[in-house]
Amino acid sequence: MSQKVYTSGWICPSNIALVKYWGKQQAQIPQNPSVSFALDICTTETVVEITLKNHQYELQVGLDFEGIPNEAFRIRMLKYLLSLNNELPWINDYDFKITTRNTFPHSAGIASSASAFGAMGLCLARLNQKINAQGDHEDFFRYASHLARLGSGSAARSVYEGFVAWGKDSPVEGASDEWAVKINQVDPLFRNLNDSIILISAGQKEVSSSAGHALMDKHPFAEVRYAQARRNTLKITEVLNTGDWQSFAEITENEALTLHAMMLSSEPSVILLKPASLLVIDKIKLFRKATGCKITFTIDAGPNIHILYPDEHREAIMGFIESEIRNKVEIAGIIHDKAGKGPLEIR
Ligand code: PMV
Repeated sequence: MSQKVYTSGWICPSNIALVKYWGKQQAQIPQNPSVSFALDICTTETVVEITLKNHQYELQVGLDFEGIPNEAFRIRMLKYLLSLNNELPWINDYDFKITTRNTFPHSAGIASSASAFGAMGLCLARLNQKINAQGDHEDFFRYASHLARLGSGSAARSVYEGFVAWGKDSPVEGASDEWAVKINQVDPLFRNLNDSIILISAGQKEVSSSAGHALMDKHPFAEVRYAQARRNTLKITEVLNTGDWQSFAEITENEALTLHAMMLSSEPSVILLKPASLLVIDKIKLFRKATGCKITFTIDAGPNIHILYPDEHREAIMGFIESEIRNKVEIAGIIHDKAGKGPLEIR
């Protein structure tokens, strides 16, 4: 008797937030809206193959990460799939084989949960269509975003190309806490935005993002922070539309530094920035003052600095990065990435 097998495979980009999601309720419902853009070369490639069960055992999941069975990742995916019981009841009828790999070094300190769960959300949304013999529908990416969010909040923003908003208080049509939506009105200045990621230290993160979000629950500045993020979301959506670089840079830096200010002032405090992170920020500010180039930065929940700039000043800024940062600051590496094309279906 032939076994019933379905397969889906996607390459999904990571994303970098401009307005930060930091603080959450149950099931990754965010405390404030956030805005990000999809990266180009930092991606996860995942293939999910499911086979109709011929046994009574609980959910069986096998997972290979970069060609090798990975137990920690397998357990995380198993828990995720079990948590989707009500959402996708067919999960219990199949055995899962997941093959996944990242295009960026996993020790680089770049968050990979966004691209990993983005890819899983896309695969599961597609498998759901195949099993239920549904045709393509316009809500496909919205549903993939919703499924991705249930794995990792920021993953909700990874299933689209370009700039993306997540959270009900965003001014973008269709905005929701449950899924992210694409921002369509974007000035050409931002379409090819470059993101040179200065890897300050290549180690693992010192605080998990779940532990980080939890620090906001009793944070004395929480409500003020959420209100600020709502204001910054409104402003940046407008700025992306008008092409106002100066305001873009102000909001982006304000968000990056506030994220770390929240960590610094939480109890217990969390210090993720390193001396070299501050040195790089200082150099960016000095270079901007001296040259007037369009250059800004953002920072994730880690020490790495993402240098953002449009194509217009690419040559000068690449020169600055080589001479002032690579040659003068002790860093672990540089990934020259940019705003990317979004997810790609491969199977
Ligand atoms: O999706 P999580 O739980 O890993 O949280 C991501 C939090 C930040 O990366 C710091 C900010 C963001 O909006 O991506």
